[in-house]
Amino acid sequence: MRSALRLSFLGISALGALLSIPNARAQDSDSDIRRACLEVLKHGPRKIADDRTLRFEGKVTLDAVARCRGGANAVARRNTPWLDWSNYWATGDASSRSGKSDTTVLPIPPLLKHLLDRNTRGIDGALMDIEYQRMELIKFNLFDNRTYETYIKGGKVNGRQEDGPVIKVWKEMRLAANDPNVATDPRTGDQTCKGQATRFRTLTGICNDTKNPAMGATGQLFGRQVQFETTYPDLGLDVLTKNRHGDRLSLLKPDPQVISRKLLTRDQSNAPTCNKGKGTAGADSNCDYKKAPFFNVIAAYWIQFMTHDWFTHMADARNDLTRSISMGCASERVNNAEQPITPARADQLGCRPTDKMEAALFADKGAPPTFKSGNKTYMARSPGTTRNLNTAWWDASQIYGYDDTSRRRMRGDPTDPAKLQLVNQRTGTVGDEQGYLPEFGAACAPGAPATGCDPIRPEWAGQEATAMPDNWSIGLSFLHTVFAREHNAIVNAFRKFARDNADEDSGLRNPERPTEPIPYSKVSNDELFEIARLVVSAEMAKIHTIEWTTQLLYDEPLYIGMNANWSGVFKDDSIASKVTQRIVRRLADSANPKLANQFYSALAAGPGIFGAGSDLGYPAGINEGPNHFGTPFNFPEEFISVYRLHALVPDMIEYRELSDANKIAKRVPVIDTFRAKSTTQMRQGGLSNWAISMGRQRLGLLELNNHPQFLQNLDIRPRFDVTLDVPALDIIRDRERGVPRFNEFRRQIGLRQLTSFDDFIDKTLPADSSGRKEQERNAATLREVYGQHTCDAGKVITAAQLDKDGKPINDCLGKPNGSVVDNIEDVDIVVGWLGEPVRPHGYAISETQFQIFILNASRRLFSDRFFTSSFRPEFYTQFGVDWVMNNGPDGTVMEDGEPNGHKQEVLPMKRVLLRVMPELKDELKTVVNAFDPWARDLGEYYSLAWKPRKGAESDPAFGK
Ligand code: HEM
Repeated sequence: MRSALRLSFLGISALGALLSIPNARAQDSDSDIRRACLEVLKHGPRKIADDRTLRFEGKVTLDAVARCRGGANAVARRNTPWLDWSNYWATGDASSRSGKSDTTVLPIPPLLKHLLDRNTRGIDGALMDIEYQRMELIKFNLFDNRTYETYIKGGKVNGRQEDGPVIKVWKEMRLAANDPNVATDPRTGDQTCKGQATRFRTLTGICNDTKNPAMGATGQLFGRQVQFETTYPDLGLDVLTKNRHGDRLSLLKPDPQVISRKLLTRDQSNAPTCNKGKGTAGADSNCDYKKAPFFNVIAAYWIQFMTHDWFTHMADARNDLTRSISMGCASERVNNAEQPITPARADQLGCRPTDKMEAALFADKGAPPTFKSGNKTYMARSPGTTRNLNTAWWDASQIYGYDDTSRRRMRGDPTDPAKLQLVNQRTGTVGDEQGYLPEFGAACAPGAPATGCDPIRPEWAGQEATAMPDNWSIGLSFLHTVFAREHNAIVNAFRKFARDNADEDSGLRNPERPTEPIPYSKVSNDELFEIARLVVSAEMAKIHTIEWTTQLLYDEPLYIGMNANWSGVFKDDSIASKVTQRIVRRLADSANPKLANQFYSALAAGPGIFGAGSDLGYPAGINEGPNHFGTPFNFPEEFISVYRLHALVPDMIEYRELSDANKIAKRVPVIDTFRAKSTTQMRQGGLSNWAISMGRQRLGLLELNNHPQFLQNLDIRPRFDVTLDVPALDIIRDRERGVPRFNEFRRQIGLRQLTSFDDFIDKTLPADSSGRKEQERNAATLREVYGQHTCDAGKVITAAQLDKDGKPINDCLGKPNGSVVDNIEDVDIVVGWLGEPVRPHGYAISETQFQIFILNASRRLFSDRFFTSSFRPEFYTQFGVDWVMNNGPDGTVMEDGEPNGHKQEVLPMKRVLLRVMPELKDELKTVVNAFDPWARDLGEYYSLAWKPRKGAESDPAFGK
């Protein structure tokens, strides 16, 4: 493996021959750069770590590697805890690009040309670093709560013993033996899905993997991304955890409401006009917030919309009804000692000792079973497990449902079984003809017959009807309406196509008659409904992967990486393809095929949606595409922690009208669109006016002190007669579910630890800059809230990493024994990632969040047969496949020009918006990515500048 990677590293093994080393030596001189590149060649690449303590950590081993890829700037930042690749050439905006190419010697063969160019070398290096991390995450960070023992010990496949990471079928993923959707082998108990359950996405998500019918289905356990022993740090399960945190932690210690008020609250220049997010009746009604110049409010709601598809911890939006928990506002640290909070002090802080909430739901709680392998004892699961009560698949279940109750909330069109119900309640613009969601009636009374009422929580009465109605506000109302319109647009276009091509084979097959072609005219309405659902789901996955994420992570490496992730590394012609192809080929030749297979999958799985297995016949082979990397697919608990993105939401929406888009007509508090109030607002404003409002407005930065005030003061009646501090609840939920604290979390997932609160300060910022001053204030507040202790160098605190001398990391984190050190180990995960002061260019999220993302963004594509081997006409019809490939029914449409240097298709979300709101045509003309603020001038290469495009100069949003 080592030699394989060595040979392929950067593909520059022949580069040395072309470079000469002049004698002159100056900082960052051309000769220094060349010398560095030659040194890199001499040492070769690092190997994939055999042990988790030796992993990559996002930091290259040699100065030379950093210098070769990014010059002195990259070398200067090697001593920080943060990722190296973001300092390589061309990974930022235009200023990160080098004007030079190291091509001074000979005519350059085409193969090497792009690596001699500093910019492409920088991007190549970044992609390489990210791939290393992904491979090591796959190797070290998959922990399934039900099958972990098999992962460690391996198991029998066709009578042969196989290693855990290559096992593909688990008995834990079976349904009941008599389940009508599966055929069960009476001898082995093995199951295979059969008949109609294999055709489309099923309501509860069963039979996506036909050999593991329960995988990803509603009610399966969440996984973990960290060693079980490190979960539940407040329980002190092993000596390392005890050493790490002493007795400093509990559910309400440090106090979550104090954390919320001191570290998460949005500062206001004029608190009365914000009025805790409720605003005022006056024209000056406004709440300040820190804004991201390259990401809009639609993007904020998009991710809430996605999380409602992927997971929920709640049973029909409720937690454990039998237990409630208090939420803190009980004590704070003053001069490093806990003191009770008096009523007067609570008033001053703004916290509420009376707040309460249902406790979290659990599947298992208590000491887990253990098993032995070799001479090591392992926990078989985490001491607390929870269920994903949604389907884990990217199946648009927030629209179509994930169990019987939620399906009854989805409104099918009573006059047309292929469509969703949309009602024409507004006739302001052309798009209005496509309709609006109907609304829920009254909730069914408990125990009463379910007729003339809706299966909903009473608080949802009157809000727009859909399968997942929780925490509804104008953004969800918007996106659900957009995709209900899109569903019906697919049905209309399909029917038109079917009329014109009635006898043509649609490609669809029925497993009961697999060889019989089904012409377009014979596709039934029920089949068409399911086909539209498949297309909507794939469209969402595509939008998320190549449009939302490339704007969330707005730089060139991620543009290339995400497009490769979707289209396949072997299919496109990008740099990513070239780098990864080389690695993949070498790995495939490796002496250890099983291990190579695992890594091969990590990279080749870039085929993503159109990848492996698409030449296989139906029904044979439909299950061959996905790869689960030895662990059944579900989201890990830690994924939810890094998607607690409440800071994205502004307190107020700047409402505009399409007829006068440069004017902010009024500011509408989000809380005035909560639940049923959204229905009124949507009807009054209309879809396209809300589109332009949220499309032009910037969302909130994911930083400390930027949580919406309305979410700190959320009225949750009738559940409890109190208001709720949602950011405080975010902290409590992660503690209830045993997510490790920030520093160990980073070590566990292969990132560098922090050693003091001062690491939350970016020392490269000018000392008098406002950003630096804010970070210094935050570091001081973190010290005040989390405190300090006298360290004991005899206490080892982690098994995940070693210090820079290869010794165990101890309680003193590099300081002398007996020093007073920061309680950096106690920082809650959400607080930590919000506080990260250094991020790659154009990153709306932090690198800790990104690390979790790298692994799961890939897995949720690769594990799903409808994005791999069942992405084919037998399921989608040829019409459906073409729609997903071309972003609509009318072939590929290209953007004018080359935004950020790429010729590119009009992206899928923009196409959807134009389809369901044709009246947006003029506004979207200059928009390349629907999640970039619509009136922003794109500027040059990945610019983050907040400047108006031509025609939007008078928009007041650009005044500040
Ligand atoms: C008006 C906007 C929003 C409201 C009112 C809201 C409200 C809430 C509440 C009350 C909870 C707590 C549930 C519980 O644990 O008992 C929650 C959880 C959560 N919210 Fe939000 N939220 C909003 C927007 C968002 C956005 C934009 C995101 C972006 C991803 C988001 C992501 C989450 C996640 C990941 C959870 C945890 C869910 C789980 O444990 O299954 N929310 N939200």
